[in-house]
Amino acid sequence: MAPAVRIVAILLLEFVATCVQKDISGIGPKFSAPVSNVTVPVGREGVMTCTVQDLHKYKVAWLRVDTQTILTIDTLIITKSERVAVTHTEQRIWQLRIKDIKESDKGWYMCQINTDPMKSQMGYLNVVVPPDILDHQTSQDMTVKEGSNVTLTCAATGVPEPTIVWKRVGIEGTLSIVEHSGATTHDGSVLNIFSIQRHNAGEYHCVASNGVRPSMSKRIMVTVDFAPIVKVPSRQFTADLGQSVSLECYVEAHPDPITYWMRGKGDIIHYPGMIEEKQFSDNSFSVRMLIAIHLKKHSDFGYYKCVAKNSQGIVEEIVKIQKRISKITIQDEPPTMILDEKYSNSVTGTTVSRQNKFRELVLRVEKSSACLIQLEFALFLVMFLKLVIS
Ligand SMILES: *[C@@H]1O[C@H](CO)[C@@H](O)[C@H](O)[C@H]1NC(C)=O
Ligand SMILES: *[C@@H]1O[C@H](CO)[C@@H](O)[C@H](O)[C@H]1NC(C)=O
Repeated sequence: MAPAVRIVAILLLEFVATCVQKDISGIGPKFSAPVSNVTVPVGREGVMTCTVQDLHKYKVAWLRVDTQTILTIDTLIITKSERVAVTHTEQRIWQLRIKDIKESDKGWYMCQINTDPMKSQMGYLNVVVPPDILDHQTSQDMTVKEGSNVTLTCAATGVPEPTIVWKRVGIEGTLSIVEHSGATTHDGSVLNIFSIQRHNAGEYHCVASNGVRPSMSKRIMVTVDFAPIVKVPSRQFTADLGQSVSLECYVEAHPDPITYWMRGKGDIIHYPGMIEEKQFSDNSFSVRMLIAIHLKKHSDFGYYKCVAKNSQGIVEEIVKIQKRISKITIQDEPPTMILDEKYSNSVTGTTVSRQNKFRELVLRVEKSSACLIQLEFALFLVMFLKLVIS
């Protein structure tokens, strides 16, 4: 027998032998407090405390209950585990110390005094494990199309089993709990977003906690792709030849759109004076497009298009620049006369002047013999007024 083994064997014999000795003194040792249960996070030191009084010649041993193994007797370590130690204060407070606690250390521990009959007390060592998130089984950052159904999953471990809460980064970067809504439901580790919309895009956090610090969380970025939205504050402009007109257009899209102005049916406009301000916020690109059109020739009037294009679609808005109708133009035009079968018993002529000399001239002629004379007079009047105006 190796010397160490022999010592242990002798000690064990002595421990058992003392048991059978009668307690002659009459004042036997006893426990002065129960062994308290302890909860230790994995990796830390677990300390079980046994408080005795009047120990005298007797000895205190620590045992692991489930495996029926003796860990320590008096100040001697019996177990092979290098993580186990025993300390005492004046033979009264006996502490079993287990370093670097593992989940397998969880269980009942017994403090024994070798009296006859033997006296013992038990305490429970609980081992807890802070939460951890399993990266591979948890959703990664994703890009989805607007309108699709999205499922985010979060897989976490820990003892006790962690509970999972979903949070979202809101305005000003604050994290708030994802509420149940028509579009969003969650059941623990799974978050469902029904028919995702662009405002649902952003940072989602799955937070796993089980009362053991620290809690764990994982950020999942959800990007929502959508076809451009194009808006023009003003669709119609009136200007004179030689003037300039500023056209304005706003685009919102994801992914980043290609934007341009087109003239009429086909040509993309390339010339200086175009301003494009792009910014990215709230998970979408916003583009402000400005262009100054110099109306140098008649063909510069007409239709212009603001176009935005990305993988989700192409969208355009039309803007019209029309020539201002001058006073001369209106006077050059003959007064409008409406002669129709519908008005078989009346003839109506209407003209509008911009000069406020008269606003409207309505000629109504009854179908009678006097008609013709009146109609001729009316036409004369119209011609006369035309002359007055010019
Ligand atoms: C220790 O825990 C057990 C159950 O796990 C309980 O029955 C017992 O009363 C506890 N002991 C103390 C001292 O709290
Ligand atoms: C989303 O889920 C709903 C209900 O489960 C289903 O009716 C719909 O077709 C799904 N939409 C898509 C784009 O898969």
